[in-house]
Amino acid sequence: MPAPDRYAVIGHPIAHSRSPQIHALFARQTHQHLVYDAIDVAPQELAPRLREFFAGGGRGLNVTVPHKEAVIACCSSLSARVRTAGAANTIVREPTGELRADNTDGAGLVRDLTHNLRIAVAARRVLLLGAGGAARGVLAPLLELKPRELVIANRNVERAQTLASAFAALGAVRASGFAQLDGMHFDLIVNATAASLQAEVPPLPPGVLGAGTVCYDLFYAGNATRFTHWALQHGAAQAHMGLGMLVEQAAESFYLWRGVRPDTAPVLAALAAQQAYQ
Ligand SMILES: NC(=O)c1ccc[n+]([C@@H]2O[C@H](COP(=O)([O-])OP(=O)(O)OC[C@H]3O[C@@H](n4cnc5c(N)ncnc54)[C@H](OP(=O)(O)O)[C@@H]3O)[C@@H](O)[C@H]2O)c1
Repeated sequence: MPAPDRYAVIGHPIAHSRSPQIHALFARQTHQHLVYDAIDVAPQELAPRLREFFAGGGRGLNVTVPHKEAVIACCSSLSARVRTAGAANTIVREPTGELRADNTDGAGLVRDLTHNLRIAVAARRVLLLGAGGAARGVLAPLLELKPRELVIANRNVERAQTLASAFAALGAVRASGFAQLDGMHFDLIVNATAASLQAEVPPLPPGVLGAGTVCYDLFYAGNATRFTHWALQHGAAQAHMGLGMLVEQAAESFYLWRGVRPDTAPVLAALAAQQAYQ
């Protein structure tokens, strides 16, 4: 039997990553002969460690914090999704040896929202919290779903304005500070800030939540994040965490590498069952 094809996720830190488990489940399900590791790569080592991985026969990488922007300079071709988002989470080694950067984060969020959770975005009022790399990556795919309007709120309003201007051609998008949201209501609120990482909730006026509001935190943790807990306490209809997005972006990367689309439902169910006990 030939040696398995090698894949990995690189980040710093990386020990917490669920990606090796997700890709092992995908490989077993689809009968693909591969191994997938988690490799801790410090920022100053990025370029040499990438060269080493691919020179050693590596076929593809996932890329996470803090390398999603820096890794672009190491690749010779960029997908349209990377050019729009300014960040990459997947590297594909082409048969020619060329490295192609792609970004599956936005597709993962949209698939989880619309397919797994059956949440409508078209003609709805959407609030996107945060203006960092994750917000940038999900903006275009969200705007493609044609919300009635999309407001980006960030502590640093200038960053939100820069994003809103950059994506203005794709739909009805504008920027706001948190305090200026008072008196407004939204159908869907997506938390793409890093606040949950610090066990904080973005400073949202509770009035933004109506009886039908759905909240989605890109972050995920045991039973709830601070944001999903806050949302349900203040009357949101539903509050979801980003585990589904993680599994869906992984499936999209797997498809780019292997040409096979795994069934995400059993994998998501297995992870969610474990998560409930953490
Ligand atoms: N589920 C998934 O598959 C998935 C994929 C990608 C990312 N994520 C998650 O998305 C989150 C954001 O990641 P990122 O890469 O975009 O980070 P980032 O580039 O560092 O951006 C951080 C953003 O969060 C804001 N922020 C930080 N602390 C805050 C607080 N206490 N209150 C309000 N806003 C705060 C920042 O606002 P300022 O500009 O004002 O500082 C900025 O907009 C992380 O939790 C990450 O785990 C999940």
